[in-house]
Amino acid sequence: MTIVSKDINKASEILHDEDVVAIPTETVYGLAGNIYSEKAIRKIFQLKQRPLFNPLIVHIHSTEQLDEIVSYIPDKAKLLADTFWPGPLTLILKKKSNIPDLVTSGKDTVAVRIPRHPLTLSLLEKIDFPLAAPSANPFGSISPTNPSHVENYFRGRLSMILDGGDCKSGIESTIIGFENDKPVLYRLGSIAIEDITKVTGPIEIKNKKETAPNAPGMLSRHYAPETSTFLVDDVEEFIAGRTDKNIGVLLFDKKINAPNIAVQEILSKKGDLKEAASRLYASLHKLDKLNLDLIVAERFPDSGLGKSINDRLERATRKN
Ligand code: TXA
Ligand code: MG
Repeated sequence: MTIVSKDINKASEILHDEDVVAIPTETVYGLAGNIYSEKAIRKIFQLKQRPLFNPLIVHIHSTEQLDEIVSYIPDKAKLLADTFWPGPLTLILKKKSNIPDLVTSGKDTVAVRIPRHPLTLSLLEKIDFPLAAPSANPFGSISPTNPSHVENYFRGRLSMILDGGDCKSGIESTIIGFENDKPVLYRLGSIAIEDITKVTGPIEIKNKKETAPNAPGMLSRHYAPETSTFLVDDVEEFIAGRTDKNIGVLLFDKKINAPNIAVQEILSKKGDLKEAASRLYASLHKLDKLNLDLIVAERFPDSGLGKSINDRLERATRKN
């Protein structure tokens, strides 16, 4: 049985027992364990079926706690942390040697963030260790944005889901690393790139394809539904000839007129990219459950969070 509850005392007890708890964050749910427990970290990798060469993000509750895990903080990292923490920003920084290699896949850097979720912040304050947490989905699947998504993925195999309701941002954190002290964007995410550059100035973008040098291409299909999914500029045109198919469509702000659509998911009737981002994964989860032949998503405006949404939709449609 998986406990689904808001009880942070129970969550803390399970984590002290070197077990794993699914935790809510403002972006997506994470599968969390004590960074210093090899048992817990191994269970995270095993539950997710995630390759060991793909490192985890470490979650902390304060910038003071940062000193426990990183050895050096570039000025622009300080600036970014001051601006966006707690929030959906992950910084890749030089790690201290006490951080187990299992968490960082042997890298000399560690990914770290302070999440903006009251329940998880209280939990992090209660325990005396940081939490490593990747998104709480099997490797390559759509990230979960509410407790039932997590339950569907890990039914019975997970001791507890800390119930923090629906995730407000709905897309993973924006990841920034540093090369010769200069910030580089590694993953588009919940903070629009325009908001990052207001703080950093122009920034190089190396939005990773989730590949590892020793396994090129292996990780390219990510955030993907089971159903065949397409990302197109013109949904009506794309589905016009496919009258024999059972089709679900994912649209930004308005419905379209076509007889052969089974279901239409509109992400934001008022055309708000933030609202659309917050609902993206929940809509994909919903469409994926309907036994459709196809999911067809519309390409979003290529600015602000639209860029992050398009990035996730491209990965969802990439076939491997
Ligand atoms: O919003 C989020 O970031 C969520 C919540 C739970 O915090 N977490 C999340 O974790 O998306 P995950 O494991 O699904 O994605 C973490 C990404 C991976 O692409 C991983 O390769 C990268 O961060 N990463 C972790 N440590 C790294 C490091 N030291 N250097 C480079 N990339 C790193
Ligand atoms: Mg993930």
